[in-house]
Amino acid sequence: MTTRSSIQGLKGHVGETVQVHAWLQDKSGKGKIQFLKIRDGSGFVQATVFKGDVSEDVFEAAKRLTQEQAITVTGEVRADDRAPGGVELSVRDVVTISENHGEYPITPKEHGIEFLMDHRHLWLRHRRPWAIMRVRDCVQRGVVEFFHGEGFVRFDAPFFTPNAAEGTTELFEIDLFGEDKAYLSQTGQLHAEAGAFAFGKVYTFGPTFRAEKSKTRRHLLEFWMVEPEVVPSNHVENMALQERFVSFLVRKVLAECQAELELLGRDVSKLAGAAEGHYPRVTYTDALEIIRRHIEDKDLPENVQDDVQPVEWGDDLGAPHETILGHHFDRPVIIEQYPVGVKAFYMQPNPENPKVALCDDMIAPEGYGEIIGGSERIHDYDLLKARIEDEGLPLEAFDWYLDLRRTGSMPHAGFGMGLERVIAWITGIDHIREAIPFPRMLSRMRP
Ligand code: 4AD
Ligand code: MG
Repeated sequence: MTTRSSIQGLKGHVGETVQVHAWLQDKSGKGKIQFLKIRDGSGFVQATVFKGDVSEDVFEAAKRLTQEQAITVTGEVRADDRAPGGVELSVRDVVTISENHGEYPITPKEHGIEFLMDHRHLWLRHRRPWAIMRVRDCVQRGVVEFFHGEGFVRFDAPFFTPNAAEGTTELFEIDLFGEDKAYLSQTGQLHAEAGAFAFGKVYTFGPTFRAEKSKTRRHLLEFWMVEPEVVPSNHVENMALQERFVSFLVRKVLAECQAELELLGRDVSKLAGAAEGHYPRVTYTDALEIIRRHIEDKDLPENVQDDVQPVEWGDDLGAPHETILGHHFDRPVIIEQYPVGVKAFYMQPNPENPKVALCDDMIAPEGYGEIIGGSERIHDYDLLKARIEDEGLPLEAFDWYLDLRRTGSMPHAGFGMGLERVIAWITGIDHIREAIPFPRMLSRMRP
C-alpha cells in the first residue's frame, strides 16, 4: 500500500512514492508535460506529470482537471531546492475524487477585494489568507501558552451582558423578550475582575462586539479580545505584563511562521524591536509634545494628511496621532496616564495628579495604532460608585460589580489586547478585515 502524506510531510519522504489528497489550484504545461499546482491545507506543492511516466488515460485526465477539483495524486517525492517547500512530486497516478459543478469563481487572474470578500468562504483556500490564518492560529496558541506559563487561569466572560463598560454609543442591544436590557459584550473585563478575585490571575479570550458605525482599517463589529486581570496588581506591573506578552507573541510568530511571513512579503526586520522588548513608556502629556513637533517639522508618515492638528490637552488621540507616535518609535510604545475624562469610569485616578488615570494604551509601529488598552482599576467602593454616577450609568446594572468592592477589595489591574489588530500588524497587511476568517463590518455580514 502506498503511504499517505500531507504536503507539509513530504520532506520526510524524499525518494518514496506517496499518495496525497489535494485540490488543484492551477495547472500549466503543453505537449508531453503538465504542471499541477496542488494544495491540501497543510501546504502547496507542484506535481509534474510526464506523458511517458503515466498511462494515456491518466495523462488525458490530468489535462481535463479543473481548478479546485478534489484529487488523489500518487507520485515520487523529489528534492528540489528551487521549489518553495524544497520538494516536488513526479506523478505516477491521478484520480479525481469528485466532479466540479460549474466554474470556480476565483480564477488565477487578479480580483478586487470586494469580490474576494464576497467569496471569502472560497478565498480562504488561497495562499494569502492561508498564511494569515496560520499566523492567527500561532498567535492564539501563543496567548494560551503565555498566560498558562505565567500561572493564569483561563476564565470565560459571558457574551450577553447587562453592562456597558466602554461607553454606551457602541453597544449592540439585544431583545430579551421584552425583559431587562441586555447587550452583546463589548469587553469581558468586569466579569474578569470577578474571576480575578476568585482565582488571582485570570484571562478571558473570546469574541467581543462593538457597534462601530464608521468604516476604518482598524475596526470590526466583532473581534477577539484577550483580557488578563490580576489581583493584586498595579499600573506599573500591568505595563510590564503587556510588554512581556506582546514581545512573546512576536518572537513566537517569528520562530514558527517564517514561511507564512515570507509568503506575505513581510519585512521581518521591522519586528525586531518588538521581539526584543524595552518598549518606551511615554506619558500622554509628553506624547502631545512629540506629536506637536512632528506636525511643526512636517515630519509625518505617508498615510497622515498634512492638515492634521495637534492635540489639545484633555482631548483623546485620533488615529493620525497614533500613527505619528507609532512612526516615532521602532517598536511598540506605551502611552500612559491619559486624562480621566477621555477614559472609562473604572480607571484609577493617579493619587498624585487626579486629572490623569493610571492607564495606558500600547501603540504598534508602522501605523497599526492601538493594540492594547488597560489600567489599574478603582478599588475604593465610594469612588467607584461616584464615578458610575458621574458617567450617568445605571447604578442597578452595576450593583454586582460594586459587590467586588464591598467585600475584600484590593488594588488590581488588567488590559485588553485586540487579536486582529495584532495579527494585522505582525503580518503587515493593510486592513483588519483579512485578519479574521469571516469579518463582520458595516455592509459585510456575508458569507
Ligand atoms: O481599549 P479598549 O476599548 O479596552 C477595553 O475594552 C478594556 N475593557 C480592556 C481591559 O482593560 N480589559 O479595547 C481593547 C483593545 C483595543 O486596544 C484594540 O486593540 C481592540 O481592543 N479593539 C478593537 N479591535 C478591532 N475592532 C474594534 N472595533 C476594536 N475596538 C477595540
Ligand atoms: Mg482603547
